[in-house]
Amino acid sequence: MTSCSKFGEATTATEVTNTFSEQIKGKNILLVGASPNSLGEHIALSISRHSPSLLILASRTASKINTLISSIHAITPNSPVKSLTLDLSSQSSIRKAAKEMETLTSKLDIIINNAALNVPDCETTTEGIEMHFGTNHIGMFLLTNLLLPNVLLAASQSAIPGSTRIINLTSAGHRLSPIRFSDFNFLKKYEELPEEEKPPTGLPKALMDPEVTYSPFVAYGQSKTGNILFSVSLTERLKDRGVLSFSVHPGSIWTGLARNLDAQGQALIKTTGKVWKSGDQGAATAMVAAFDPKMNDMPGGYLADCQFAPAAEHATDPKIAERLWSLSEELVGEKFDMRGK
Ligand SMILES: NC(=O)c1ccc[n+]([C@@H]2O[C@H](COP(=O)([O-])OP(=O)(O)OC[C@H]3O[C@@H](n4cnc5c(N)ncnc54)[C@H](OP(=O)(O)O)[C@@H]3O)[C@@H](O)[C@H]2O)c1
Repeated sequence: MTSCSKFGEATTATEVTNTFSEQIKGKNILLVGASPNSLGEHIALSISRHSPSLLILASRTASKINTLISSIHAITPNSPVKSLTLDLSSQSSIRKAAKEMETLTSKLDIIINNAALNVPDCETTTEGIEMHFGTNHIGMFLLTNLLLPNVLLAASQSAIPGSTRIINLTSAGHRLSPIRFSDFNFLKKYEELPEEEKPPTGLPKALMDPEVTYSPFVAYGQSKTGNILFSVSLTERLKDRGVLSFSVHPGSIWTGLARNLDAQGQALIKTTGKVWKSGDQGAATAMVAAFDPKMNDMPGGYLADCQFAPAAEHATDPKIAERLWSLSEELVGEKFDMRGK
């Protein structure tokens, strides 16, 4: 249960952060994915009104981070905001940014993994991993794990177990695909996939053509399944040390996410949202997940519209989460097992 049963679809991040102001005060918070006209903007503006000790904005485009910092300082001139530029599609860029974090802080109470991309064509990351999976999941996996010592330091100094958290922004689109362990780079046609890796039946051809190996929507869905499974594994590994992870579907918000899609793709996206939220509403569920003190005792979970919600089984099964953890370690060339260390 969350604290406020009245919070829902229409609730704004402004309302949520006003309610949990005490839980934001004094915290060191890292927001990954911060640009104007994105959920990151609304998350950053909401948090900065409530006196965090430090807000670090990490994102791909330095000029966009700086514009956002100016917007924050126009409202709260003394907000302690720092920037970190990184490209989640490049593991060397992520490793460089994690090193740079040493100059910013040794302690992170909250990480909000909000960045993601949505591209129409089959592209790969610097390391040759399908772009959505490689950036939205593998990039976040590497960054978060490299920063876990900072998170564990915060948890060890916190009087409140469960208040140190890692929030992964996902999407209802996770239902479009399980993790394709045998084909995460989308080289197989539908019929060639094992049953448990196939997208759900009955998808319109515009979303998935069984004759074509690559569907950007299904690929985005796979990466968003990765975000939920990552939260499952993080909570399993870290809950005894006072750290929890929650995954969040923000709802449908017209941000920059669809900017790379052609007119047909944009039209398709427009049909997916029953209710279109404002940016402030879209940022609300992540703020519940990050700061609601009633969730300190929860065993992790998936939230939508500011409440716990069911996610697809392919995104919540702890055995699949462990399998993804191993694959992710393989793809970043490093093992991360913080259990018992
Ligand atoms: N909007 C929706 O309706 C919706 C629905 C479901 C889930 N979500 C999820 O909500 C989160 C935020 O989405 P949004 O709608 O705010 O999207 P957005 O406007 O496109 O913002 C995405 C953010 O991620 C950053 N980013 C993208 N690629 C990056 C990379 N390679 N390295 C570092 N940063 C990168 C972007 O930076 P630049 O601007 O510099 O590229 C931007 O700050 C995502 O996880 C998304 O999957 C959104």
